[in-house]
Amino acid sequence: MPRVVLGVCGGIAAYKAVEVCRRLVDAGIHVAPVLTDGAQEFVGALTFSALASEPARTSLFGGPEPIPHTYLGQTADLIVVAPATAKLLGKYAAGISDDLLTATLLATRAPVLVCPAMHTEMWEHPAVQENLSTLRRRGVHVLDPEEGRLAGGDVGAGRLADPARIADEVLRLLAGVHPLTGRTIVVTAGGTREAVDPVRYVGNRSSGKMGHALANVALRLGARVVLITTANQPVAAGVEVVAVESAQEMHDAVMARSASADAVIMAAAVADFRPKAPSDHKIKKADGVPEIVLEPTTDILAALGRAKRPGQMVVGFAAETERLREHAAAKLAAKRVDLMVANDVSAADAGFEVDTNRAVLLAADGSSAETQLLTKEELAAVVLAHVVTYLGGPLGGPST
Ligand code: PMT
Repeated sequence: MPRVVLGVCGGIAAYKAVEVCRRLVDAGIHVAPVLTDGAQEFVGALTFSALASEPARTSLFGGPEPIPHTYLGQTADLIVVAPATAKLLGKYAAGISDDLLTATLLATRAPVLVCPAMHTEMWEHPAVQENLSTLRRRGVHVLDPEEGRLAGGDVGAGRLADPARIADEVLRLLAGVHPLTGRTIVVTAGGTREAVDPVRYVGNRSSGKMGHALANVALRLGARVVLITTANQPVAAGVEVVAVESAQEMHDAVMARSASADAVIMAAAVADFRPKAPSDHKIKKADGVPEIVLEPTTDILAALGRAKRPGQMVVGFAAETERLREHAAAKLAAKRVDLMVANDVSAADAGFEVDTNRAVLLAADGSSAETQLLTKEELAAVVLAHVVTYLGGPLGGPST
């Protein structure tokens, strides 16, 4: 999840920063608010603490980190200052760091967006414009104020840009490094276990490595990630994990979460059949060899293909041991998915359990691509590049 420091300065427009904060959090961004002393004259830190991803910081000293400005500056993917007052712009241009916000601005290599807001006379003052030119020359992004009503009833240039525009600009700037910002991706992983009795199950060799790699890479690309998994593989902090065991549990979890997802990636090895009448007590060896009658499970991927809404992407994996392209293409069409990632699970270095994989990617538009042997993280990055292209960047989406 991308981390954004939201700097708030002392101006009447500080109340609009609350809306910026809420919009960014809603877009799946981790927001760390930093308030100047002036900002707190207009809006309390508690308001931001309640809405942001972590409590608002107000001071260089006395917080949880020994050196908060370097911590914030080094961990930020972007810093946005809204509203940015004439004083803040002057200090930033001059390299003065006498409070937490200005020190953080000097302690970061992340992109910085400033959103000035002040009275027209101040906005047009040569000192302010020269400071902005200096900041622009140094690569700082500036979202110019709008014309409109200002404090005290005056009308003119200097009103803070609309919070929706500020949030959009943050997402646009993040898109370069985090192209899935604001997107929700549901990933499944691992092999399902279908109970025979309370101690035995029908299962398969899936370790969950492929699905967990997809979840971890999707998170790094900025997505909000829900991982529905049967496996106990490492997963990055920030991924929402839903633990399931059987095909039915996986079906229920996927269906409950897929409606609002931008993409669903089914890397799990879901059982096609399950025991029809699992015993509720341990089957005794002394009772002889049991006859286990199987019944089909619900095909989750096919259900997703049927329920797919415009703009949503559904990705399947095809585990094949022969005629890879042919069988995968048949599944692509039958399950009505947008992309099928076919892997040859009979290869010793690909498919189940190992750390590497190679795949043929078949898209619904008829195009295809083939990868070399890759680590599962590398293959995850290839699959997610297709997702990024399909979705068309953050919060945009293909034409529907
Ligand atoms: O977990 P690892 O050890 O890392 O191994 C990775 C993997 C080999 C499991 C993975 O790369 C893979 O191929 N996953 C799909 C396995 C599979 O079930 O393939 P399939 O061809 O039987 O099914 C096709 C698709 O339908 C899959 O996306 C599957 O999730 C889905 N399916 C199948 C049956 C069912 N009842 N519901 C489904 O949704």
